[in-house]
Amino acid sequence: MSHRYPPVSDKCPHLLHGGDYNPDQWPRETWAEDMRLMKLAGCNAMSVGIFSWAQIEVAEGRFEFGWLDEIMDRLADNGAFALLATPSAAHPAWLSAKYPEVLRVDADGRRRPHRARVNYCLTSPTFREKCAAIAEKLAERYRDHPALLMWHLSNEYGGACYCELCQAAFRQWLRERYASLEQLNAKWWTAFWGHTFTDWSQIGPLDGSILGMRLDWQRFVTDQTVSFLRNEAAPLRRITPGVPVTTNMMGTYTGLNYWKFAEHVDRVSWDSYPQFHDRDDDWRQAAAVGFVHDLYRCLKGGRPFLLMESTPSSTNWMPVNKLKRPGLHRLMSLQAVAHGSDTVQYFQWRKGRGGTEKFHGAVVDHCGHENTRVFRDVAEVGEALGKLDAVVGTTVRPEAAVIYDWENRWAIDASAGPRREKKDYEPTCVNHYRPLWARGVPVDVVDMDQALDGYRLVIAPMLYMVRPGVAERIERFVEGGGTLVTTYWSGIADENDRVFAGGFPGPLRAVLGVWAEEIDVLHDDEANGVAFLDDNELELHGEYEARVFCDLIHAEGAEVLARYTRDFYAGRPAVTCHAFGRGRAFYIASRNEPAFLHAFYGRLVETLALRRTANTNLPEGVTAQARTDGDREFVFLMNFKRAGQYLHLGEDAFTDVLTGENVAGERKIDGYGSMVLQRRRGVGGGL
Ligand code: GLA
Ligand code: ZN
Repeated sequence: MSHRYPPVSDKCPHLLHGGDYNPDQWPRETWAEDMRLMKLAGCNAMSVGIFSWAQIEVAEGRFEFGWLDEIMDRLADNGAFALLATPSAAHPAWLSAKYPEVLRVDADGRRRPHRARVNYCLTSPTFREKCAAIAEKLAERYRDHPALLMWHLSNEYGGACYCELCQAAFRQWLRERYASLEQLNAKWWTAFWGHTFTDWSQIGPLDGSILGMRLDWQRFVTDQTVSFLRNEAAPLRRITPGVPVTTNMMGTYTGLNYWKFAEHVDRVSWDSYPQFHDRDDDWRQAAAVGFVHDLYRCLKGGRPFLLMESTPSSTNWMPVNKLKRPGLHRLMSLQAVAHGSDTVQYFQWRKGRGGTEKFHGAVVDHCGHENTRVFRDVAEVGEALGKLDAVVGTTVRPEAAVIYDWENRWAIDASAGPRREKKDYEPTCVNHYRPLWARGVPVDVVDMDQALDGYRLVIAPMLYMVRPGVAERIERFVEGGGTLVTTYWSGIADENDRVFAGGFPGPLRAVLGVWAEEIDVLHDDEANGVAFLDDNELELHGEYEARVFCDLIHAEGAEVLARYTRDFYAGRPAVTCHAFGRGRAFYIASRNEPAFLHAFYGRLVETLALRRTANTNLPEGVTAQARTDGDREFVFLMNFKRAGQYLHLGEDAFTDVLTGENVAGERKIDGYGSMVLQRRRGVGGGL
């Protein structure tokens, strides 16, 4: 059945290309030139006004929209559109001076001076009123403007405020969550170190030694930020109900649980600044970026997301800010589209002459003209995107999912023991994702609350926290024929970070058929071995290295596929498989080397006959990802190695969407090369 999501707006049924545009930092003389250059670069969508509060509301209640009117008109005249921002991320100095309570208070109770950005209290009624007021003015003024495409709420919500107002709001939040103080004390295990609260008012600033409090504080900060977002979105929703809203998020930023944002925005978007440039193992990093793109597609159930920021060349905030090597910009831009982005946007359009970001890459460099390598790279991407209208609104339909869960991460990161460092929840999830990426198997990235019904393989690395209902859902999934893979340090604690009594992996024990009695951790220079048994059902062989975490488990109904080879637990089970209902549940007891994961998932892909995007063996560093509307499908072939590589497209025959040529058989893909192919109907398998 053919289905595609609508474009961001019917005004522009194309992939969006553009970025943060800050004309208010420049004299008017540059504006006409900006428009000419945008056209040349194939840009059609600019984020405007993100940091412009001081330029719009020049004094309290005194609005000067002249410059913005002119920019909006110029964009419209040039056939381009605005992602118009609410300016709350950077509020004017006059506001802080008159209402100091809007400024953020740090964890030690010090109110910060007016400086930098995102320096506001999440709770202050004054600040919320001012944010809503300017949003209302913007909506009223531009509601019918032809350039208005969507709303860009604030900029990278993040951090927290610890002022009295925020603490009072936290206490109120707790009262709504817990029926009584007794319940709170029990859920937070406050008898530890005599933390018992006897009055709500005693609950003061965050005490990191109460792990349940720490989790609830992080949940509260998320909810309070969502409520802050809703406050500034409200006038936009009321005055411009047809104009979608989004906010740019920060990948897997740990401070906010982005799943809670999804229902409050029409599109999710994120700012991607991958840290790879010219090293041989860049492809490993590239898979990590693919993982985050997949997460963003899943945040709204498969609806295309927006790549809201990326750099056209370098960043300025890494220790070493390398230039993007030739080819990389196109590759990384198409990578986002391959995983479901309907945009390629940049920070920023024109490099500023001052401020801390004056050396951050931008489309237009300080020289001010188009005759630069970076501008040509951007224009090349613009040209490619211009040929991909048919991709707009298509999505990815995976049979496999990796569970990556924010609250689980909070609990893992906060845990004292069994190791302080190298808990590495996110990299571990990526390590389990990479072998599928490397085989061109599409993957969803979801949290533990999502439905699992549609999948055939669910991978839940380090599922330390198991919230209510999750184990039951996992059991039903496996019973119904699904394959589950989980690892050491799973099924340890509930949603309040209280450890499960009665044996790990707690509520997952039945489905996994193992009891995890103890967990050993290794020094950085230590390793154990994991050796497959003869005739194991995955038909895997050999011995692999285990590091960092080694669970000491007993098989309770599960079949043992591999055993440890060293130390006092040599011979104990290291990999198990439990037949449960019509499905199977695998337990990987230790953190094994990448070669193990590659072999293990390779066998699962084969035995489950998981759908691969290209029916071929992909060389290392090459992936194939596909978007489809259920009828047409677009295959993105990407080589993240510096050197060109050959691959055989098997039985499949394609048309290269960007060049129009027919593609089949053996094919070279250049170093950092990328191709967009449309599968010719009636040939090959694939999706
Ligand atoms: C973030 C911000 C931008 C800019 C870039 C620089 O993503 O949203 O305003 O500071 O970083 O990389
Ligand atoms: Zn506050």
